[in-house]
Amino acid sequence: MTELLQNSILEICYLIASVTFILGLKMLSSPDKARKGNLYAAYGMGLAILATILFKEELSSDKMLNYGLILGGLVVGTVIGMRMALKVKMTAMPQMVSFFNGMGGACAAVISIVEFDHISHSGTFEMGMLIVIILGLIIGAVSFAGSIIAYGKLEGKIGDKAFPGGQVINIGLLLAILGLGIYMATMASPEPMYLYILLTLSLLYGILFVMPIGGADMPVVISLLNSFTGVAAAFGGFLYGNQAMLTGGILVGSAGTILTVLMCTAMNRSLMNVIIGSFGGGGAAAGKDSEQGTIKEITATDAAILLAYANKVSVVPGYGLAVAQAQHTVHNLEKILEDKGVEFNYAVHPVAGRMPGHMNVLLAEADVPYPKLQEMEDANGDMASTDVVLVIGANDVVNPAAETDPSSPIYGMPIIKALDAKNIIVMKRSMGKGYAGIENELFFHEKNRMLFGDAKDSLEKLIAEVKNL
Ligand code: TAP
Repeated sequence: MTELLQNSILEICYLIASVTFILGLKMLSSPDKARKGNLYAAYGMGLAILATILFKEELSSDKMLNYGLILGGLVVGTVIGMRMALKVKMTAMPQMVSFFNGMGGACAAVISIVEFDHISHSGTFEMGMLIVIILGLIIGAVSFAGSIIAYGKLEGKIGDKAFPGGQVINIGLLLAILGLGIYMATMASPEPMYLYILLTLSLLYGILFVMPIGGADMPVVISLLNSFTGVAAAFGGFLYGNQAMLTGGILVGSAGTILTVLMCTAMNRSLMNVIIGSFGGGGAAAGKDSEQGTIKEITATDAAILLAYANKVSVVPGYGLAVAQAQHTVHNLEKILEDKGVEFNYAVHPVAGRMPGHMNVLLAEADVPYPKLQEMEDANGDMASTDVVLVIGANDVVNPAAETDPSSPIYGMPIIKALDAKNIIVMKRSMGKGYAGIENELFFHEKNRMLFGDAKDSLEKLIAEVKNL
């Protein structure tokens, strides 16, 4: 096969792969097509890898060693990745996403180091190339270090650690990284020592900017790190002139950036505060944590009567619903109440659960019709005309402290305004706190009744009681 033909086949394969990434991403926006979209993109990635192995011109004279290393890497990565993906619980997905994201960042940083070494042995650097190498290294290293810290925090292995002057140190580190990066880019042949200093500073910054972020703010950081990895991978694609890698990186980078901006808006946070690691200040430790009064309980029988005779019921799903795997049971309650003429919908907070779109995915899995899922603004608009709001395993996303207590770590975050409904029933196992680790005055409000127990068990009892009416 001629070299021209070989290159043409390779470019066509990359083009097909790029198209599958775009199609896959488009399909991910609808829950019924998401699984298929994921598969399309995976096939595209498989094609790009295979085409590279078969048609990329040989980089080293030792072809067999290269194939051995590639195949070895593929086998080890596939076995570990598949084991993790098969074993992971739905509620632990964010940790896994963070971990995988960190690996992507590490790859991008390693590509920069290898390319730097490769070019420095073969002559002087072209400035454009050097800038791409430097940016890939910085962003990849920040993403790797930050993601691993985020993974540790979500796993509960690392606590929120804010230290005095942290923001100043972060700004100082950012300026040092920027200064050294620009200085290196102006050199014709920079010493490798500079690259390793840049790597160390970037890793340090990645650790320090994620370390203090606590409370309810982790989702924004995870999505920001995700976009960093995408951008770093795009730089890798640029370095290698690899269209598939470039398109994949740009798609991840832009999708992650859009998500980060949407999350910042949803949480009422500024992007600048995320970057200098200054939000979630004080994390779980801050906030009002005093004795709030007495709570009132409700029995399943009384709750069922309230629900069955309501005109309109709204469910606020939260992390506890996912833990209890109660999505199918709540859908059954929905059907039974609708048969009795009750209007039923779900008020979905953008960061309910533990990952972006968590509640949407969970409820779609139980075949809850998509139009029944109300976005926060619409749900809040309808709350005053809602007879019963059923808060199932949710806590932070309905905490009024976000609106009333400036010392609270979640202050400023928009919430589902459950208090506006005529009656509130909160279903959870105990008076345990949510992700932000703070007390919730909603539970003590005179309109509220607590229905204690595992969400699935309580829902099953409610269904049985409603059927008896
Ligand atoms: P949380 O505030 O975490 O509260 C969940 C509640 O569920 C807990 O108070 C817990 O109370 C209850 N629960 C746990 N297991 C249960 C079970 N089996 N049955 C019934 N209840 C159970 O949840 P939320 O309101 O959904 O808020 C999400 C939080 O996670 C936010 O702070 C958000 O910022 C953060 N976060 C979100 C994401 C994304 S992107 N969604 C990512 C990372 C972090 P008991 O122990 O008393 O039962």
